[in-house]
Amino acid sequence: MITSSAPGKIYLFGEHAVVYGESAICCAINLRTRVQAELSDSVEIISVLGRSGINFEKHPYVSAVIEQMRKFVPIKGVTININSELPVGSGLGSSAALTVSTIQALNQLFDCGLSLEQIAELGHNIERDVQGNASPTDTYVSTMGGVFMLPHRKKLKLANCGIVIGDTGRDSSTKKLVLNVAELNNSFPEIISPILSIIGKITSFGEYSMYNNDYLSIGKLMNINQGLLDSIGVGSLELSQLIYSARSKGAYGAKLTGAGGGGCMIALTDTGKINDVSDAIESAGGIPITTNITDKGVIVE
Ligand code: PMV
Repeated sequence: MITSSAPGKIYLFGEHAVVYGESAICCAINLRTRVQAELSDSVEIISVLGRSGINFEKHPYVSAVIEQMRKFVPIKGVTININSELPVGSGLGSSAALTVSTIQALNQLFDCGLSLEQIAELGHNIERDVQGNASPTDTYVSTMGGVFMLPHRKKLKLANCGIVIGDTGRDSSTKKLVLNVAELNNSFPEIISPILSIIGKITSFGEYSMYNNDYLSIGKLMNINQGLLDSIGVGSLELSQLIYSARSKGAYGAKLTGAGGGGCMIALTDTGKINDVSDAIESAGGIPITTNITDKGVIVE
Protein backbone atom coordinates (compact mmCIF):
# COMPACT_ATOMS: atom_id res chain seq x y z
CA MET A 1 0.00 0.00 0.00
CA ILE A 2 1.17 3.53 -0.79
CA THR A 3 0.16 6.59 1.23
CA SER A 4 0.81 9.99 -0.24
CA SER A 5 -0.24 13.46 0.81
CA ALA A 6 -0.25 16.97 -0.62
CA PRO A 7 -0.92 20.41 0.89
CA GLY A 8 -3.60 23.02 0.32
CA LYS A 9 -2.72 26.63 -0.42
CA ILE A 10 -3.56 30.26 0.26
CA TYR A 11 -3.07 33.35 -1.86
CA LEU A 12 -1.22 36.16 -0.05
CA PHE A 13 -1.75 38.34 -3.14
CA GLY A 14 -3.01 38.33 -6.68
CA GLU A 15 -5.94 35.91 -7.15
CA HIS A 16 -8.14 36.80 -10.13
CA ALA A 17 -5.46 39.18 -11.48
CA VAL A 18 -3.29 36.08 -12.13
CA VAL A 19 -5.92 34.92 -14.63
CA TYR A 20 -5.01 38.04 -16.67
CA GLY A 21 -1.26 37.35 -16.53
CA GLU A 22 -0.56 39.50 -13.46
CA SER A 23 1.66 38.24 -10.63
CA ALA A 24 0.35 36.41 -7.58
CA ILE A 25 1.96 34.96 -4.45
CA CYS A 26 0.68 31.60 -3.31
CA CYS A 27 1.78 29.55 -0.28
CA ALA A 28 1.40 25.85 0.56
CA ILE A 29 -0.15 25.40 4.01
CA ASN A 30 0.03 22.73 6.66
CA LEU A 31 -3.40 21.26 5.91
CA ARG A 32 -3.14 18.14 3.78
CA THR A 33 -5.11 15.64 1.78
CA ARG A 34 -3.99 12.02 2.24
CA VAL A 35 -4.56 9.24 -0.27
CA GLN A 36 -3.95 5.54 0.36
CA ALA A 37 -3.77 3.37 -2.73
CA GLU A 38 -3.52 -0.41 -2.91
CA LEU A 39 -3.84 -2.99 -5.62
CA SER A 40 -7.16 -4.81 -5.83
CA ASP A 41 -9.46 -6.57 -8.33
CA SER A 42 -11.54 -3.53 -9.31
CA VAL A 43 -11.48 0.24 -8.95
CA GLU A 44 -12.91 1.45 -5.64
CA ILE A 45 -12.78 5.06 -4.43
CA ILE A 46 -13.66 5.72 -0.78
CA SER A 47 -14.16 9.18 0.73
CA VAL A 48 -16.53 11.08 3.06
CA LEU A 49 -18.83 11.28 0.03
CA GLY A 50 -19.17 7.48 -0.03
CA ARG A 51 -17.83 4.63 -2.16
CA SER A 52 -17.78 4.38 -5.93
CA GLY A 53 -15.93 2.98 -8.90
CA ILE A 54 -14.88 5.41 -11.63
CA ASN A 55 -17.63 7.98 -11.15
CA PHE A 56 -17.36 11.54 -12.49
CA GLU A 57 -20.32 12.73 -10.41
CA LYS A 58 -19.18 11.52 -7.01
CA HIS A 59 -15.40 11.43 -7.40
CA PRO A 60 -14.52 13.50 -10.49
CA TYR A 61 -10.85 14.24 -9.71
CA VAL A 62 -9.81 10.73 -8.69
CA SER A 63 -11.78 9.23 -11.58
CA ALA A 64 -10.00 11.59 -14.00
CA VAL A 65 -6.59 10.75 -12.51
CA ILE A 66 -7.17 6.99 -12.96
CA GLU A 67 -8.34 7.46 -16.56
CA GLN A 68 -5.38 9.70 -17.42
CA MET A 69 -2.84 7.38 -15.78
CA ARG A 70 -4.25 4.45 -17.72
CA LYS A 71 -2.58 6.12 -20.69
CA PHE A 72 0.81 5.32 -19.07
CA VAL A 73 0.13 1.97 -17.35
CA PRO A 74 -2.66 -0.59 -17.33
CA ILE A 75 -4.60 -0.01 -14.08
CA LYS A 76 -7.05 -2.88 -13.64
CA GLY A 77 -7.91 -2.60 -9.99
CA VAL A 78 -7.00 -0.19 -7.21
CA THR A 79 -8.62 0.85 -3.93
CA ILE A 80 -8.20 4.53 -3.12
CA ASN A 81 -9.00 5.87 0.32
CA ILE A 82 -9.19 9.66 0.76
CA ASN A 83 -8.86 11.70 3.95
CA SER A 84 -8.63 15.46 3.92
CA GLU A 85 -8.04 18.23 6.43
CA LEU A 86 -9.11 20.79 3.79
CA PRO A 87 -12.66 22.13 3.56
CA VAL A 88 -14.01 21.53 0.04
CA GLY A 89 -14.74 24.40 -2.40
CA SER A 90 -13.46 27.06 -0.05
CA GLY A 91 -10.42 28.54 -1.78
CA LEU A 92 -7.85 26.36 -0.02
CA GLY A 93 -7.01 24.19 -3.01
CA SER A 94 -8.69 20.98 -1.85
CA SER A 95 -9.20 19.67 -5.39
CA ALA A 96 -5.56 20.30 -6.35
CA ALA A 97 -4.31 18.56 -3.18
CA LEU A 98 -6.54 15.56 -3.92
CA THR A 99 -5.53 15.41 -7.59
CA VAL A 100 -1.80 15.74 -6.90
CA SER A 101 -1.73 13.25 -4.02
CA THR A 102 -3.70 10.70 -6.06
CA ILE A 103 -1.32 11.07 -9.03
CA GLN A 104 1.69 10.55 -6.74
CA ALA A 105 0.09 7.50 -5.04
CA LEU A 106 -0.59 5.83 -8.41
CA ASN A 107 2.79 6.98 -9.74
CA GLN A 108 4.45 5.03 -6.91
CA LEU A 109 2.08 2.05 -6.87
CA PHE A 110 2.43 1.44 -10.62
CA ASP A 111 6.01 2.64 -10.93
CA CYS A 112 5.28 5.25 -13.63
CA GLY A 113 8.39 7.34 -12.97
CA LEU A 114 6.66 10.75 -13.19
CA SER A 115 8.79 13.69 -12.00
CA LEU A 116 7.37 16.46 -9.79
CA GLU A 117 7.15 18.76 -12.84
CA GLN A 118 5.17 16.08 -14.70
CA ILE A 119 2.89 15.54 -11.69
CA ALA A 120 2.16 19.28 -11.52
CA GLU A 121 1.46 19.45 -15.25
CA LEU A 122 -0.78 16.37 -15.28
CA GLY A 123 -2.57 17.74 -12.20
CA HIS A 124 -3.21 21.04 -13.96
CA ASN A 125 -4.57 19.30 -17.08
CA ILE A 126 -6.92 17.21 -14.93
CA GLU A 127 -8.17 20.23 -12.94
CA ARG A 128 -8.78 22.09 -16.19
CA ASP A 129 -10.69 19.12 -17.68
CA VAL A 130 -12.86 18.66 -14.60
CA GLN A 131 -13.50 22.36 -13.85
CA GLY A 132 -13.47 23.68 -17.41
CA ASN A 133 -10.97 26.36 -16.32
CA ALA A 134 -8.06 26.44 -13.86
CA SER A 135 -4.75 28.25 -13.57
CA PRO A 136 -1.71 26.03 -12.89
CA THR A 137 -1.21 27.77 -9.52
CA ASP A 138 -2.93 25.35 -7.13
CA THR A 139 -1.52 22.15 -8.59
CA TYR A 140 2.00 23.63 -8.90
CA VAL A 141 2.15 24.87 -5.30
CA SER A 142 0.53 21.67 -3.96
CA THR A 143 3.15 19.58 -5.80
CA MET A 144 6.21 21.67 -4.89
CA GLY A 145 5.27 23.08 -1.45
CA GLY A 146 6.65 26.41 -0.22
CA VAL A 147 5.88 29.92 -1.44
CA PHE A 148 5.84 30.87 -5.12
CA MET A 149 5.36 33.99 -7.15
CA LEU A 150 3.42 33.12 -10.28
CA PRO A 151 3.29 32.94 -13.23
CA HIS A 152 7.13 33.11 -13.07
CA ARG A 153 7.33 30.18 -10.61
CA LYS A 154 9.83 32.16 -8.54
CA LYS A 155 10.42 30.52 -5.15
CA LEU A 156 10.22 32.96 -2.25
CA LYS A 157 11.24 32.83 1.40
CA LEU A 158 8.85 31.33 3.97
CA ALA A 159 7.04 33.93 6.04
CA ASN A 160 7.73 33.40 9.74
CA CYS A 161 4.46 34.47 11.30
CA GLY A 162 1.02 33.20 12.20
CA ILE A 163 -1.71 32.50 9.66
CA VAL A 164 -5.31 32.20 10.74
CA ILE A 165 -7.84 31.07 8.15
CA GLY A 166 -11.49 31.94 8.62
CA ASP A 167 -13.94 29.69 6.80
CA THR A 168 -17.33 31.31 6.11
CA GLY A 169 -18.77 27.81 5.71
CA ARG A 170 -20.25 28.83 2.34
CA ASP A 171 -18.76 27.19 -0.68
CA SER A 172 -18.40 29.12 -3.90
CA SER A 173 -17.85 28.40 -7.57
CA THR A 174 -14.45 29.49 -8.86
CA LYS A 175 -15.69 29.11 -12.42
CA LYS A 176 -18.65 31.46 -11.83
CA LEU A 177 -16.60 34.11 -10.04
CA VAL A 178 -13.90 34.11 -12.72
CA LEU A 179 -16.67 34.55 -15.30
CA ASN A 180 -18.23 37.43 -13.32
CA VAL A 181 -14.91 39.27 -13.29
CA ALA A 182 -14.54 38.69 -17.05
CA GLU A 183 -18.02 40.15 -17.62
CA LEU A 184 -17.25 43.19 -15.46
CA ASN A 185 -14.01 43.65 -17.39
CA ASN A 186 -15.91 43.48 -20.68
CA SER A 187 -18.41 46.10 -19.46
CA PHE A 188 -15.82 48.50 -17.97
CA PRO A 189 -12.41 47.63 -19.45
CA GLU A 190 -10.90 51.08 -18.72
CA ILE A 191 -11.73 50.65 -15.03
CA ILE A 192 -11.27 46.92 -14.36
CA SER A 193 -8.03 46.37 -16.33
CA PRO A 194 -6.12 49.01 -14.32
CA ILE A 195 -7.46 47.52 -11.08
CA LEU A 196 -6.14 44.09 -12.11
CA SER A 197 -2.80 45.57 -13.03
CA ILE A 198 -2.60 47.41 -9.67
CA ILE A 199 -3.21 44.05 -7.97
CA GLY A 200 -0.19 42.77 -9.92
CA LYS A 201 1.83 45.75 -8.60
CA ILE A 202 0.68 44.98 -5.05
CA THR A 203 2.12 41.48 -5.53
CA SER A 204 5.50 42.96 -6.57
CA PHE A 205 5.58 45.24 -3.53
CA GLY A 206 4.49 42.24 -1.45
CA GLU A 207 7.45 40.24 -2.72
CA TYR A 208 9.83 43.04 -1.70
CA SER A 209 8.24 43.26 1.77
CA MET A 210 8.49 39.49 2.21
CA TYR A 211 12.16 39.64 1.25
CA ASN A 212 12.66 42.19 4.07
CA ASN A 213 10.45 40.29 6.57
CA ASP A 214 8.43 43.52 6.78
CA TYR A 215 5.15 42.07 8.06
CA LEU A 216 3.53 45.46 8.71
CA SER A 217 3.87 46.34 5.02
CA ILE A 218 2.78 42.85 3.90
CA GLY A 219 -0.36 43.31 5.99
CA LYS A 220 -1.09 46.79 4.61
CA LEU A 221 -0.68 45.49 1.07
CA MET A 222 -3.03 42.57 1.81
CA ASN A 223 -5.64 45.07 3.00
CA ILE A 224 -5.29 47.15 -0.17
CA ASN A 225 -5.56 43.96 -2.22
CA GLN A 226 -8.78 43.09 -0.37
CA GLY A 227 -10.26 46.51 -1.18
CA LEU A 228 -9.61 45.91 -4.86
CA LEU A 229 -11.04 42.38 -4.72
CA ASP A 230 -14.19 43.90 -3.23
CA SER A 231 -14.25 46.43 -6.06
CA ILE A 232 -14.32 43.68 -8.69
CA GLY A 233 -17.24 42.00 -6.97
CA VAL A 234 -15.69 38.90 -5.40
CA GLY A 235 -16.17 39.87 -1.73
CA SER A 236 -19.15 39.01 0.46
CA LEU A 237 -20.70 40.22 3.69
CA GLU A 238 -19.55 37.11 5.56
CA LEU A 239 -15.98 37.46 4.30
CA SER A 240 -15.91 41.16 5.27
CA GLN A 241 -17.20 40.39 8.76
CA LEU A 242 -14.37 37.89 9.34
CA ILE A 243 -11.77 40.17 7.72
CA TYR A 244 -12.71 43.22 9.83
CA SER A 245 -12.91 41.18 13.03
CA ALA A 246 -9.38 39.81 12.42
CA ARG A 247 -8.02 43.31 11.72
CA SER A 248 -9.68 44.68 14.87
CA LYS A 249 -7.64 42.21 16.95
CA GLY A 250 -4.35 43.41 15.51
CA ALA A 251 -3.76 41.13 12.52
CA TYR A 252 -1.11 42.65 10.22
CA GLY A 253 -3.58 42.27 7.36
CA ALA A 254 -6.57 40.21 6.25
CA LYS A 255 -8.14 39.37 2.92
CA LEU A 256 -10.11 36.69 1.15
CA THR A 257 -8.16 33.84 -0.45
CA GLY A 258 -8.98 32.15 -3.75
CA ALA A 259 -12.05 32.89 -5.80
CA GLY A 260 -14.03 34.63 -3.01
CA GLY A 261 -17.80 35.05 -2.94
CA GLY A 262 -17.73 32.74 0.11
CA GLY A 263 -15.05 30.26 1.08
CA CYS A 264 -12.19 31.44 3.24
CA MET A 265 -10.31 34.54 4.33
CA ILE A 266 -6.81 34.67 5.75
CA ALA A 267 -5.28 36.83 8.43
CA LEU A 268 -1.54 37.31 8.79
CA THR A 269 -0.63 37.88 12.41
CA ASP A 270 2.11 38.02 14.98
CA THR A 271 2.31 34.58 16.62
CA GLY A 272 1.40 36.19 19.97
CA LYS A 273 -1.96 37.33 18.58
CA ILE A 274 -3.06 34.07 16.93
CA ASN A 275 -5.54 33.19 19.71
CA ASP A 276 -7.11 36.69 19.77
CA VAL A 277 -7.52 36.76 16.00
CA SER A 278 -8.88 33.23 15.96
CA ASP A 279 -11.42 34.03 18.72
CA ALA A 280 -12.51 37.18 16.85
CA ILE A 281 -13.12 35.19 13.66
CA GLU A 282 -15.18 32.66 15.61
CA SER A 283 -17.24 35.42 17.31
CA ALA A 284 -17.94 36.89 13.86
CA GLY A 285 -19.45 33.57 12.73
CA GLY A 286 -16.47 31.96 11.00
CA ILE A 287 -14.65 28.69 11.57
CA PRO A 288 -11.06 29.59 12.50
CA ILE A 289 -8.22 27.33 11.39
CA THR A 290 -4.70 28.11 12.57
CA THR A 291 -1.99 26.96 10.24
CA ASN A 292 1.40 27.85 8.85
CA ILE A 293 3.24 27.76 5.59
CA THR A 294 4.94 24.50 4.68
CA ASP A 295 7.82 23.67 2.40
CA LYS A 296 6.50 20.11 2.09
CA GLY A 297 4.78 19.54 -1.24
CA VAL A 298 3.48 16.15 -2.36
CA ILE A 299 5.19 13.34 -0.44
CA VAL A 300 5.02 9.60 -0.03
CA GLU A 301 4.47 8.96 3.67
O1 PMV B 1 -10.83 29.30 -5.39
P1 PMV B 1 -9.53 28.71 -5.81
O2 PMV B 1 -8.72 28.17 -4.68
O3 PMV B 1 -9.69 27.69 -6.92
O4 PMV B 1 -8.64 29.91 -6.44
C1 PMV B 1 -9.05 30.58 -7.59
C2 PMV B 1 -8.02 31.59 -7.97
C3 PMV B 1 -8.39 32.41 -9.21
O5 PMV B 1 -7.30 33.30 -9.44
C4 PMV B 1 -9.63 33.24 -8.96
C5 PMV B 1 -8.62 31.55 -10.44
C6 PMV B 1 -7.39 30.84 -10.96
O6 PMV B 1 -7.59 29.84 -11.69
O7 PMV B 1 -6.25 31.27 -10.71
